Amino acid sequence: MKNKNIILKLLSELSLYPKWFYSAIIITLIISTVSIVRPLIVNHVLNKVNFLSINSITNFGLSLITLMLFESLLQYINSLISVILGQKLILKTRKELFHHVLNLPTSYFDKTPIGTIVTRIISDMEAMNDIFSDGFTTILGSIITIIVFIGVMFYINAQLTIAVLIVMPVLLLSVWLFKNGVQKSFIRVRNAVADLNRFTQERLVGMGIIQQLNAEDKELEKFKLLNKQHRDAHIQSIWYYSIFFPILELLLSIAIALVIYNSSLLPNVLLGEITFFIMMTQMLFRPLRMLADQLNTFQMGLIAAKRVYALMEEHIPQINQGKRILQGLNKGIEFKEVDFYYQDKKNKVLSNINLFIPANKVTAVVGQTGAGKTTLVNLICRLYDIHYGKILIDNIPIQDYSLDSLRYQIAMVLQDPHLFNASILDNVRMFNPEISKQQIQNTAEEIGIHDFIMQLPDDYNYIIQERGANLSAGQKQLIAFLRAYIHQPQIFIFDEATAMIDSHTEQLIQNTLKKILLHRTAIIIAHRLSTIQMADQIIVMHNGQIVEKGTHSELIQLSKYYKEIYKAQFELV
Ligand SMILES: Nc1ncnc2c1ncn2[C@@H]1O[C@H](COP(=O)(O)OP(=O)(O)OP(=O)(O)O)[C@@H](O)[C@H]1O
Ligand SMILES: [Mg+2]
Repeated sequence: MKNKNIILKLLSELSLYPKWFYSAIIITLIISTVSIVRPLIVNHVLNKVNFLSINSITNFGLSLITLMLFESLLQYINSLISVILGQKLILKTRKELFHHVLNLPTSYFDKTPIGTIVTRIISDMEAMNDIFSDGFTTILGSIITIIVFIGVMFYINAQLTIAVLIVMPVLLLSVWLFKNGVQKSFIRVRNAVADLNRFTQERLVGMGIIQQLNAEDKELEKFKLLNKQHRDAHIQSIWYYSIFFPILELLLSIAIALVIYNSSLLPNVLLGEITFFIMMTQMLFRPLRMLADQLNTFQMGLIAAKRVYALMEEHIPQINQGKRILQGLNKGIEFKEVDFYYQDKKNKVLSNINLFIPANKVTAVVGQTGAGKTTLVNLICRLYDIHYGKILIDNIPIQDYSLDSLRYQIAMVLQDPHLFNASILDNVRMFNPEISKQQIQNTAEEIGIHDFIMQLPDDYNYIIQERGANLSAGQKQLIAFLRAYIHQPQIFIFDEATAMIDSHTEQLIQNTLKKILLHRTAIIIAHRLSTIQMADQIIVMHNGQIVEKGTHSELIQLSKYYKEIYKAQFELV
């Protein structure tokens, strides 16, 4: 998006709050106009100082104070309105942004670092807010003030005005140079912030690995480098400020000197006029100086807004879903000539998959790591859409079912299930208060994990730490079973953990599975012999293809791949 379009977009968003938006503009206009009155009064009083009574001078003094108070009051109201306006917009945009992110396809998260998305939703949004609390109306105010001031100065004394304006070209040039310089370093600052966020986030998530591999020092070095880039970018922007402001002061002094010098050349210039011009020159420089600063805040906000809107415009592919409601499974799930790749078209992860998964039976999928097992099951609940072929449930393409009903009927327990930093209860009911504790407890008893939960401190209220850090891989899967099973899904998918699981937990998992799988359609990606024995049918995958199918006894006699996997994995157990 171009800057102009972003400004238009922001304005159109702001006009959604007309009351606040127009009040901010009107008050800004009033402040700019009122501020000219003070120097005019001083001018008037000083010109006539010899003819005025003490009383009227006191009155003028009092009116100056009243004006100042009035101006300050307006300033206060104005900043309040700008901040409220900004926060209203930020609240709305942030909500919409998160809503958008929630609906982005899974593939978007494969290619975008989480830290980047966090930066968009949190800190870019803050920078965008600065446009309102610190830019927007003040920029408008500054520009109006400058125009009004110059106009009135010309009206009072054209020659002295020209004397002040002589420094203008140099001033505008330095504002322009300053603005450009600072803008570049601000972009660097923002990039550095995003890099820091992304890096920190990723390292925090992988802290266990870092510590286990003794990589703390190396990671610290990398962090130091990023941190240094951030500091340098910041210092560079401060450097521009430290040069710009002294130059401005210098130009101001020159302008005042020019006013005084020129008034000495002019006949009958009144004291009031000279004072008026000195005051005006000072007051004219203030909005100019502010303008340079505000333009920067504005630019920063625009850069942030550009990124926020880019994420907002990230395409959400229209998932074509049908209206059919998937209620039960009668025949089974069928893959017909299915091909699939992730981002890279040339790298087919699944090719020519033909497969029938019968209803109410257990199908096990085995194969080496990277064979495409997880990918295969992800396709059934449409986390990704296939590129070629068909997936049918009871002879109806999965696209014809409503996505909600499809996902409601399919429960998945992932290889490494994600648990939230919340109690077991909340993890199981996914923060849905309609599911009662009793219901959860009954289900846990039904599938045989109630005793395991009761052994934990605080039992069902046991707080699971982020990413389930205080549970073992097997225990996490047990909780995930309960979460998957609570809705009594028709189709149950279990991606068995590859991690080592102690024999007690493994026994628990096996018992739970037996209960869950009774009269249910299940697909199990199996890594353990004990699991595979429950299967009615075994699918062997190799390099994205199905190479063998059959029961354990069939495969163990005839097969090549299965036998290999069997020997390598299961005989060790
Ligand atoms: N989100 C993704 N984006 C891109 N490529 C992916 C993605 N997920 C998996 N792959 C690739 O697809 C291939 C199959 O991966 P998949 O996760 O399906 O294997 P798997 O059979 O489940 O292995 P494992 O037994 O280790 O779990 C691998 O080559 C992997 O690199
Ligand atoms: Mg897998």
